[in-house]
Amino acid sequence: MNQTTDKSSESRPLFVTFEGADGCGKSTQAALFADALQKAGAKVECLREPGGTKTSEAIRQLLLNPASDICPMSELLLFEAARAQLVTEVIKPALAAGTWVVCDRFFDSTSAYQRVGRALDAALVDEANKIGSCGIAPYITFVFDLPTSEALARATKNRTDRMEGEGETFQEKVRQGYLEIARENPERIKIIDAAGTKDEVFSRVKAAFEAAGFAFPQVDSPSPSLSPSASNL
Ligand SMILES: Nc1ncnc2c1ncn2[C@@H]1O[C@H](COP(=O)(O)OP(=O)(O)OP(=O)(O)O)[C@@H](O)[C@H]1O
Ligand SMILES: [Mg+2]
Repeated sequence: MNQTTDKSSESRPLFVTFEGADGCGKSTQAALFADALQKAGAKVECLREPGGTKTSEAIRQLLLNPASDICPMSELLLFEAARAQLVTEVIKPALAAGTWVVCDRFFDSTSAYQRVGRALDAALVDEANKIGSCGIAPYITFVFDLPTSEALARATKNRTDRMEGEGETFQEKVRQGYLEIARENPERIKIIDAAGTKDEVFSRVKAAFEAAGFAFPQVDSPSPSLSPSASNL
């Protein structure tokens, strides 16, 4: 999905998303990014998809439960329903109130998993994404890229949800899907090499953020006691 990005006020609160196949380090990097913002004195809303509202968390339970029997179309619509609720209840109000929004997954996940991974019709998924995101798009998106075997090895062993249980072939399709989506949206999506230590990867994130013309807020006296923490990611 293409959209224009107005960078004229480069340090105003932004909507930033973290994407990639399972285990690539999205949540880790989203937390580091949110921490950096908070240390700079910014107000930050840290979110994950699906989730972030009561309704969206209930949908998450349904979607990720290995016992759920969900056809691909139903899966698509459930993700979009959870998203619409999150955008309406949390993301739009946060941005309107001058709060940065850091989100672990957003509509690019739907493109990678449902369009490429599940092979649903591309135009249909794009349209569903437009509906579910209620007209908003991230200003910048980081896609973390890692060989599938390494990403799966990183993923916590005892945490197998319905999507993670799809196996390595599916995860490789998802990885290739992300690379395809990034090629379609070079202005918004930055591919980050996810190999190396967490700090090395985060240095790449900061460099890509600044190279895209954005900036962390500059605050005279950063407060170490700002909350919330990024622990809900
Ligand atoms: N650069 C890194 N090097 C080594 N281990 C890492 C790195 N980044 C994250 N990890 C670890 O790998 C595991 C997966 O990381 P994380 O949960 O951030 O990935 P994710 O993309 O959010 O995964 P999921 O898709 O399952 O939510 C965690 O145990 C995390 O601590
Ligand atoms: Mg995660």
